[in-house]
Amino acid sequence: MLPSRVKLVDVGPRDGLQNEKQPVPAATKIALVHKLQAAGLREIEVTSFVSPKWVPQMADNAEVMAGIQRQAGVRYSVLTPNMQGFEAAVKSRPDEIVVFGAASEAFSHKNINCSIAESMARFAPVVSAARAAGIYVRGAMSCTVGCPYEGEVAPERVGYLAKLMKDIGVQHVGVADTIGVGTPRKIQAALEATLQHYALDDVSGHFHDTYGQALANTLASLELGVWQFDTSVAGLGGCPYAKGATGNVATEDVVYLLHGMGIDTGIDLDRLVDAGVFISEALGRQTSSRVARALLSKRAG
Ligand code: HMG
Ligand code: MG
Repeated sequence: MLPSRVKLVDVGPRDGLQNEKQPVPAATKIALVHKLQAAGLREIEVTSFVSPKWVPQMADNAEVMAGIQRQAGVRYSVLTPNMQGFEAAVKSRPDEIVVFGAASEAFSHKNINCSIAESMARFAPVVSAARAAGIYVRGAMSCTVGCPYEGEVAPERVGYLAKLMKDIGVQHVGVADTIGVGTPRKIQAALEATLQHYALDDVSGHFHDTYGQALANTLASLELGVWQFDTSVAGLGGCPYAKGATGNVATEDVVYLLHGMGIDTGIDLDRLVDAGVFISEALGRQTSSRVARALLSKRAG
């Protein structure tokens, strides 16, 4: 049986914008968050407290967090790779922090400049400090089916990473297909390896759509009962350390899929499309969402 309700976390302001070459003004990012919450998103990944030398686009993290008019019932999350990031983040009162590790050693080195084992040593005090402060802790697991440097990644590697995350007290993990190479059975294998260590309610899917497989992978996840997904408005994004990888699956496309199957999201698709139009115009390009394009041409007609 498929879930009757799905929670979507829009990661557009963070995953979506982190890779933009041109600086995106903080005011634009703040307005995007406001439009997403107005469309019914109840969780938004706002920014990351990482090194501005590594990811210059996220250097305005504190300004963006301070500028958001928080809406009751909406949760705001931020990425924190180490204690330095956590200490900066905590001042901006996030509801949730995200530590991010990888199932492949090479990606771990390229993305956060340390091995998987070293990353856990860095995350452990962050997780403890966050939980002591009552901040929820999510773990992102990159490259769970494929790595831009190592190729195919075995489910055992994913299970190993999930166990490490569990051991240091991470409360929820996201199974990420960072470069969008996964297909349904491979995604299910990565999820199943994760479900050896985490309960169904504590696992989400995070699918980049590089090869156009993300909707199929979402459906394959629903078949396992997974009901939480990260998506990105207008399909924005890509990771600076995964060259060629495109954005996450568009939130609009996932909402259309779910509503069409009678699955509730609490999201108003029309207002979501408006949010996507806003950010696409601000970036000077067309939306990557197929559903948004279809609905916009219908509106125009
Ligand atoms: P490092 O160089 O090993 O860190 O980088 P370090 O501790 O040796 O410090 C070096 C310098 O960085 C120092 O500054 C520190 O102050 C500074 P300097 O003395 O040279 O002027 N620094 C920081 N500054 C601000 N905030 C911090 C911070 N930490 C150190 N938190 C580090 C290690 C993790 C910092 C670096 O590798 C980094 O920032 N990486 C970020 C990578 C990133 O953001 N990637 C994209 C997000 S992950 C993603 O997109 C995947 C995901 O979507 C899931 C999926 O799709 O797979 C989540
Ligand atoms: Mg990502």
